[in-house]
Amino acid sequence: MAGTVSVPPAELRELFDREVAAASTIDDARRLKVDWLGRSHGRITGLLAALRDVPKEEKAALGAQINALKKHVEERLAALEKEAVERAAAAAEAERAVDVTLPPRELPVGRLHPITIVRRRIESAFRSLGYEVFDGPEVETDWYNFESLNFPPDHPARDSFDTFFVEDGGIGKGRLLLRTHTSPVQMRTMETIEPPIRIIVPGRVYRKDDIDPRHSPVFHQVEGLAVDEGITFSDLRGTLAAFATGFFGGRAEVRFAPTYFPFVEPGVDVAVSCVFCAKKGCRIFSGSGWIEILGAGMVHPNVFAAAGIDAERYTGFAFGMGIDRIAMLVHGIPDLRLLFENDVRFLDRSWA
Ligand code: PHE
Repeated sequence: MAGTVSVPPAELRELFDREVAAASTIDDARRLKVDWLGRSHGRITGLLAALRDVPKEEKAALGAQINALKKHVEERLAALEKEAVERAAAAAEAERAVDVTLPPRELPVGRLHPITIVRRRIESAFRSLGYEVFDGPEVETDWYNFESLNFPPDHPARDSFDTFFVEDGGIGKGRLLLRTHTSPVQMRTMETIEPPIRIIVPGRVYRKDDIDPRHSPVFHQVEGLAVDEGITFSDLRGTLAAFATGFFGGRAEVRFAPTYFPFVEPGVDVAVSCVFCAKKGCRIFSGSGWIEILGAGMVHPNVFAAAGIDAERYTGFAFGMGIDRIAMLVHGIPDLRLLFENDVRFLDRSWA
């Protein structure tokens, strides 16, 4: 039944004041305006409408009270809206403001892997001797990895490489494996370019080795090959000595010991004298003062024959060195696994 003023203006005023006290945003102000002053359902509007049915003698006093409440509501809501608009503007301004005195945020900067650093240094040492950098596949055929390099089928030297086979199609040209050394690129190069050849081939190689501080089933080598008329063993010696002094420093010496690889004759193990202790023997080069870093030798005539190169006219030498080993020596890295685990605490050290 319209016409009764159910809540007295004094209580409504208290209710309003509580609602205003809890309001802060522009949206709050607008919502309160609709609730209280809205034309169809606003509380004050309702009160004024109900006034029509109030007995005459009460009308004037009640009307004055309602008008006073209405004025109060209008003023408070206008003030609330103004404050809310100002607050929003101030917040937007603060967001836009740039504190030019703040230090810049540090960006994380990556570093080259120690193997990459050493590989590049080896490359530039040989580039300065006139060598070009070549590349070859990691998945190889038995032919390039073994047979063309003078490892006949069932040759015992194959056993020194614990090979990962990709497909077991029997021994022969077709059988696929992960290359156990970078030497297959010797053959691929001799097939495609004419002597004189002077190349180095850095790359990943694979052997079924158990992981320990000195072994990993994947590691890195740099192959070298020089083929020309009149190349002799002293060229091999001179080249490796020049590399050793260029790479390890002026006092480094090289030492040759005979060994066997099927694809060279004669074959040698090459050791470099320790640049840290000058051959006295220290912790770094396993106490002997010398460290074996590569295998080398004069290209075997059977290898030239497989590549279609005239072994009467040309001679050549080849060598292969382990990058990981050299990186460990140069940087004093005690455990090969550190090079493969990609622990940022290790990689973030400054290796250059
Ligand atoms: N390929 C040999 C190895 O991995 C190293 C080598 C390369 C030896 C070239 C002689 C000549 O052990």
